[in-house]
Amino acid sequence: MHVLFVLVTLLLVSCSYGAVLRDLGQNHGKLIGSCANQGHLAEQQYAQILGQQFSVITPENEMKWAATQPARGQFTFTQGDAIVNFATSHNQKVRGHNLAWGEDNPSWLTSGNFNATTKQNLLKTHIDTVVGHYKGKVICWDVVNEAILDNPANGNVYKQNVWYPAVPNYIDLAFQWANQADPNVKLFYNDYSAEGSGAKPDAVYNLVRSMKQRGIPIHGVGLQYHVSLQYSPNIQQVITNIQRITDLGLEVHITEMDVSIQGGSGSQAQMLAAQATVYGSVMKACLGNAKCTAFVSWGFTDKYTWLNSNQMPLLYDTNYQPKPAYDTLVTTLS
Ligand code: XIL
Repeated sequence: MHVLFVLVTLLLVSCSYGAVLRDLGQNHGKLIGSCANQGHLAEQQYAQILGQQFSVITPENEMKWAATQPARGQFTFTQGDAIVNFATSHNQKVRGHNLAWGEDNPSWLTSGNFNATTKQNLLKTHIDTVVGHYKGKVICWDVVNEAILDNPANGNVYKQNVWYPAVPNYIDLAFQWANQADPNVKLFYNDYSAEGSGAKPDAVYNLVRSMKQRGIPIHGVGLQYHVSLQYSPNIQQVITNIQRITDLGLEVHITEMDVSIQGGSGSQAQMLAAQATVYGSVMKACLGNAKCTAFVSWGFTDKYTWLNSNQMPLLYDTNYQPKPAYDTLVTTLS
């Protein structure tokens, strides 16, 4: 009895020490990922955890317009290529991010006062060139990012940005051009606050359903999942929403998950435990649907979060120590 107990304990301890998210995810057919920032790849601890734990990475900024076309007609792929090379040498996939968005655009584009025809041509050339460059090197593209208003109502659905309303059908066009540039890459619509129920999740659902019905090439929806202890969608409603999207024949990726402890209550340990529960419930929701095929967080260490580090939104602390959220993902996947 005593010997058995020791053996089982040893087994459990060794399992959790050897735990690697990507292997556990693979057992379920899920990619597990993080965004990656080229500027940190030279940092040994950063690179080691990124390379060991994840089977897919998303360039945090390196494939956005500002990075890839800093001057009109001049394309630079150095940063994005560094991400792809890192992924290749660590046997990882890459999610392309992104091709049309209202942010992280170069100023020549946003302040160029271009007319609609020129904007349309600029978008097409950009998509042809960037998708062409990364053909065969990324598994999917977030083609259009965050196109829908936070509170869509009465037919007023789309955010005004450099593309809209100048090119009213830019979403359809972007997907069609991306598909022409690489017929084999999967094309995603990606947005935040679209996870659960309400006007925005409905607007995202209606958009992608309409695209499917009209034969626009779209293969998936990215649910970013930027949430906090204060604002986090009801997980049953998330499960229902994932189901209705995948019922359209689309995949779902959780693309940018982080859970800020803002608005949490109790001690820090209690907040990190509550955060772990949110991560675990979302992983469980993804595991519950065969067409939820990737679970990606927006970074992995609180040292480098796009939020303030004191919001502690990620799986590792600022010293690269795994947090309760990491342990909960391991348990949920085991
Ligand atoms: C963020 C990056 O993390 C920041 O470094 C950058 O300054 C701004 O963009 N939704 C997205 C991501 O789709 O591209 C954003 O990334 C975070 C919100």
